[in-house]
Amino acid sequence: MEIKKLVIASHNQGKVSEIREMLKPYGVEVVSAGELNLPDVEETETTFEGNATLKAVELSKLSGLPCLADDSGLCVDALGGRPGVYSARYAPNRDFDKGMDKLLAELADANLKNPSRKAHFVCCLALALPGTTESAALFKGFVDGQIATEKAGSNGFGFDPLFVPDEGDGRTFAQMSHEEKDKISHRGRALGRFVKEIFAN
Ligand code: IMP
Repeated sequence: MEIKKLVIASHNQGKVSEIREMLKPYGVEVVSAGELNLPDVEETETTFEGNATLKAVELSKLSGLPCLADDSGLCVDALGGRPGVYSARYAPNRDFDKGMDKLLAELADANLKNPSRKAHFVCCLALALPGTTESAALFKGFVDGQIATEKAGSNGFGFDPLFVPDEGDGRTFAQMSHEEKDKISHRGRALGRFVKEIFAN
């Protein structure tokens, strides 16, 4: 399958710039949904796979181009896996600073019963080709870590200032460079699988 131009089905600048950066070496022209004035697709499914497929299929239909959608989220053990697939809606008015304060407060409550601060990020990428109603392929990536007791760092986006990956050196994702995060992140891993399948050879 040869892909020369790819639409990223997201209006989340953080996601789009990470994906764009990671696809740079492969010579594919990357355009975002925002740059093409494509609408935000409502996430009506209850799984990462379902929402990623929904977004990829819809925007590929509207753009007439191959489309890659990312549905991702943070799953916190002591909160029973929440916010999970609802991570984007967890922050009041999509204000992630407030969202992180909310998460710290909820976790402090939950920790009275269960002291775990374990969490993981999930990323599910769906590729859809124009004229199809199902995704052509799905690629998943995960990263395990801990929720820090306070926010640290200003890189990245979303919950990055609170997430300390187990494979790191104690810094949050927001304290790492893009390259450091991409090497071990859920999105970096899912995208690695996508690249291997689509751009290998
Ligand atoms: P959605 O995939 O558009 O539903 O949104 C995913 C949400 O999960 C984002 O808005 C963030 O809150 C969170 N999220 C996903 N990936 C990351 C990441 O790499 N860093 C920080 N937060 C993330």
